Amino acid sequence: MKTVLTYGTFDLFHVGHLNMLQRLRAMGDKLIVGVSSDTFNEIKGKKSLYSYDERAQIVAALSCVDEVFPENNWQQKQQDIVEYAVDIFGIGSDWQGKFDELEDLCQVVYLPRTPTISTTELKKSLSKVDADSILQIKQGLDSVLNIVKAIE
Ligand code: CTP
Repeated sequence: MKTVLTYGTFDLFHVGHLNMLQRLRAMGDKLIVGVSSDTFNEIKGKKSLYSYDERAQIVAALSCVDEVFPENNWQQKQQDIVEYAVDIFGIGSDWQGKFDELEDLCQVVYLPRTPTISTTELKKSLSKVDADSILQIKQGLDSVLNIVKAIE
């Protein structure tokens, strides 16, 4: 049984998140995901549109994800790796080299990001449009999410 671990905020869940989680799941038999808590996001200087509960609920609903737990601080990774008997820690190449010290505990992989999409870019696009358009975009995102859930 090979266990894979990753972390992230996963706000405004998009296809880049999905690709990353599916690729990580394919590397083992079980994928566990630490979703950044709202308090930890504040520490990181991030403000998510969706709350921790909403983000964790979306990630946990995916068939490629076996377990979700809150990521509350930078230091918990070592303990999580031991506690969950993790074989592979994986994360996007935006973190290249940042977690090499975990190699003492498990295999560490940095995977290429899906190009041209990120939560930051989505937020920038959304901030340029009026409230009605935002509602339409949100309804569009919600229906994409429903389709993803339906095909899982
Ligand atoms: N990710 C990815 N491809 C993208 C966007 C994200 O592979 N286009 C990966 C990240 O590398 C990370 C995980 O998805 O391993 C969670 O990323 P997160 O920071 O929550 O998403 P971003 O869209 O990068 O958000 P932000 O712009 O706020 O950093």
